[in-house]
Amino acid sequence: MSLDPFPWYRSMRESQPVYFDTENQFWHVFKYEDASSILNDPATFSSEVFQRLATEEEKKQATAEPSILNLDPPRHRQLRSLVTQAFTPRTVANLTPRISEIVNEYLDRVIDQGRMDIIADLAYPLPVIVIAELLGIPTQDRDLFKHWSDTIVSLRREEAIQAGREMNEYLKQVTEQRRKAPRDDLISKLLAAEVEGQKLSEGELLSFYGLLLVAGNETTTNLIGNAIICFDEHPEAIERLRAQPDLLSGAIEEVLRYRSPVQRLVRVTTTDTTLGGHKIKAGQLVSPWLGSANRDEAQFPNPDTFDISRAPNRHLAFGHGIHFCVGAPLSRLEARVALGSMLARFGEIKRDRAHPLERIPAASAFFGVQKLPITFSAR
Ligand code: HEM
Repeated sequence: MSLDPFPWYRSMRESQPVYFDTENQFWHVFKYEDASSILNDPATFSSEVFQRLATEEEKKQATAEPSILNLDPPRHRQLRSLVTQAFTPRTVANLTPRISEIVNEYLDRVIDQGRMDIIADLAYPLPVIVIAELLGIPTQDRDLFKHWSDTIVSLRREEAIQAGREMNEYLKQVTEQRRKAPRDDLISKLLAAEVEGQKLSEGELLSFYGLLLVAGNETTTNLIGNAIICFDEHPEAIERLRAQPDLLSGAIEEVLRYRSPVQRLVRVTTTDTTLGGHKIKAGQLVSPWLGSANRDEAQFPNPDTFDISRAPNRHLAFGHGIHFCVGAPLSRLEARVALGSMLARFGEIKRDRAHPLERIPAASAFFGVQKLPITFSAR
């Protein structure tokens, strides 16, 4: 998928809003209304894709238990309430001063150079460090943790599996230590959380850590990178933000809509059903395209206009319904602190056009760029 899939989405919404790809046996759904009705109906559109479609052999080889992302009710509801007990809005809000400190440390390193790569020099390390601190990973092991998370999201399969094993072993040990001597960190809180007399098993804990890394890090990196791309394309937005910093939260929502870090989700049908006048058989893969739903003219007036004060802005960038992103408040906070500090400390910000933008690997549903060099003046 290119860096500009939006004309293609538009033509699909106009001509084939619910489209069956016969070669890959996959339904693709492009309109907002259809995408949200899929996400609102987990009984018909299940998240248990692997469990329902994998062969017995593939199931035997699976190394991890499914995380909440890939579970349906009732198990999803139980695990999700365990997780939200530990991941409260207050836990997140309390991180503000620390996030600010980390951001400023990274900006201090580049401020005299007048140039930086937004991804490598800020947007990539920030969420990894925040998650590591939130979990309670000791500072001296932070680099190890960053190396694992880096390798796991790379598409280098063998290395990724090996890094996953090493990280699991490491996290198992930290979990054991916290079981004996709890601290004020997410691992200890997850160990303490209990719903209907049930706790998270070790396998469930490990899958959740993995989800935090994969679901939480690259997406937040891309949100910050995509915001800079949007601001570079719309310099008037930066001017407005400098004059009215309280518009920043709305601007971040508009980035989430306009360049959604997750472009598509996947579900599998549990029964025969119909969508947009098409009959869909049980056991078929269905992909709601969030990136297209978020540009749907039936939901958003002038959908291709980047408008930082757009209201209402009910985008689907964090999903919708029972699987709505648990990390939404955290990623919004990280983006607000990172972008707010850049606007406060940098004068004119310009993308370095000598480096053409390159999308992160095309196989991914994630949407962002590999590198984002900018130049700036100090204020
Ligand atoms: C779920 C997007 C950041 C943790 C989701 C879903 C989306 C999403 C679209 C729904 C998936 C589905 O319905 O199948 C994003 C975006 C982010 C972001 C765009 C950043 C801009 C984070 C962060 C964390 C996180 C920082 C944690 C630290 C989760 C979890 C779920 C989830 C645990 C599963 C919830 C469930 O299944 O009930 N996210 N996410 N996400 N996200 Fe995020």
